[in-house]
Amino acid sequence: MGDVVESLTDVAVVRNTQVLFKDYVKGYPTKSDMVVTSDGTIRLELPKDKDGVILIKNLYLSCDPYMRGRMTKDKKGSYVASFTPGSPLAGYGVAKVLESSHSDFKKGDFISGLTNWEEYSLITDPQSLIKIQHTDVPLSYYTGILGMAGMTAYVGFYEICSPKKTDAVFVSAASGAVGQLVGQFAKLLGCYVVGSAGSKEKVDLLKNKFGFDEAFNYKEEGDLDAALKRYFPDGIDIYFENVGGKMLDAVLSNMNVHARIAVCGMISQYNLNQHEGINNLIFLILKRIRMEGFLITDHYNLYPKFLNTVLPLIQEGKITYVEDIVDGLKNGPAALVGLFSGKNVGKQVVAIAHEYFPDGIDIYFENVGGKMLDAVLSNMNVHARIAVCGMISQYNLNQHEGINNLIFLILKRIRMEGFLITDHYHLYPKFLNTVLPLIQEGKITYVEDIVDGLKNGPAALVGLFSGKNVGKQVVAIAHE
Ligand SMILES: NC(=O)c1ccc[n+]([C@@H]2O[C@H](COP(=O)([O-])OP(=O)(O)OC[C@H]3O[C@@H](n4cnc5c(N)ncnc54)[C@H](OP(=O)(O)O)[C@@H]3O)[C@@H](O)[C@H]2O)c1
Repeated sequence: MGDVVESLTDVAVVRNTQVLFKDYVKGYPTKSDMVVTSDGTIRLELPKDKDGVILIKNLYLSCDPYMRGRMTKDKKGSYVASFTPGSPLAGYGVAKVLESSHSDFKKGDFISGLTNWEEYSLITDPQSLIKIQHTDVPLSYYTGILGMAGMTAYVGFYEICSPKKTDAVFVSAASGAVGQLVGQFAKLLGCYVVGSAGSKEKVDLLKNKFGFDEAFNYKEEGDLDAALKRYFPDGIDIYFENVGGKMLDAVLSNMNVHARIAVCGMISQYNLNQHEGINNLIFLILKRIRMEGFLITDHYNLYPKFLNTVLPLIQEGKITYVEDIVDGLKNGPAALVGLFSGKNVGKQVVAIAHEYFPDGIDIYFENVGGKMLDAVLSNMNVHARIAVCGMISQYNLNQHEGINNLIFLILKRIRMEGFLITDHYHLYPKFLNTVLPLIQEGKITYVEDIVDGLKNGPAALVGLFSGKNVGKQVVAIAHE
């Protein structure tokens, strides 16, 4: 719970930090177009005069390029309303239900969908929100791979691009929330895939983490046409368009007959007063190209099908997802405007509060004791196990701290068992036969923190109690 400012009854009134939209923006947005304030408060109960509403605690907020459109007053042709100056920003997010008078949601549920950029929100029309059923993946994924960005990649690639496994696929803004998935979907199908991104770090990610066949930094290519010819000597069959402008012009002249372009976004144009002209549209005719724009909001009927496809791919490790998470609403404005200079590496998320174990803890390997043990106890599941290995937080205290939550041992039928390794050395040969091959096959790794010379031994030893060591602390006297 946030700072309680008043608690006259059993209902708390807490501070509700918010990110307010200041005023309409021209050109590139800056973080000073928003203000973070903790002046407001919220009463943590449902209003008595309204039914069908929910009170939520926001956990993760999604930063999305389309939000730039909402910063312009009555944007021409816009499909989403402008923000209201003085009100909190709104966008996709993940939240926990604190109270509900809506039959679809109950206290403790996790939901994803449109919310406000604030710690707590009262949602008066929750019917568009999705109740999260699968909490065995990070909840933040519902802002990205399992949310709007994931749906966009899925619909854009499978529904709009009509892909075949022999296709050569090009993705721009390829390391972002949408692009990283489009490339992986295309690779799963067997396509040849190339991505463009704006830094070496992102290019490395595309090739080494997401499995793109090739990737290039478009900022270092003086001639985009030449770059595309280098990576697509036989032409492009599918272009997943995220950026528009010069890249689109270069792609058009490199496309094959009957190629497809899924026009998903044109981020290079969002902050310009007048969009750049595209000169190569004649290739639509010459090459009989299908170029089709889409808005993901038209396709939410596919969400269950999408979830059935993508969730197993995540669980089986067949696709991966990189997030760029900043902590705290105070860092939200910079994260949002960072999208337009490519500061984000992967899906940009703002975390307000983390829920690491929404479904509780089954096993706790206890190394520290004290406050951590108390906190863990109240988060454990029925029949959970605690291996009590160590309690280093207590070793230097004259009197050990009291643990208050032991009642959960009974309530949750938890087994908590201390052990000393000296009782178990007969297992050493079995242990070695198990662990040595895992090391040799690279299936487990080990980090050591080695200081050289006995003279550094005392500092290394006492450093354990202030966390100076990073990994296993060793003193090397002589190296062999
Ligand atoms: N049609 C729909 O329904 C729909 C839904 C979701 C998203 N979208 C669109 O899909 C695109 C990608 O969205 P996302 O959420 O995945 O964003 P993102 O890739 O996570 O973030 C935006 C990225 O765009 C790149 N960029 C920024 N300014 C650029 C410029 N002037 N020229 C070229 N690249 C630029 C940056 O990467 P670099 O470092 O690579 O430059 C930046 O990291 C956006 O255009 C967005 O509007 C459309």
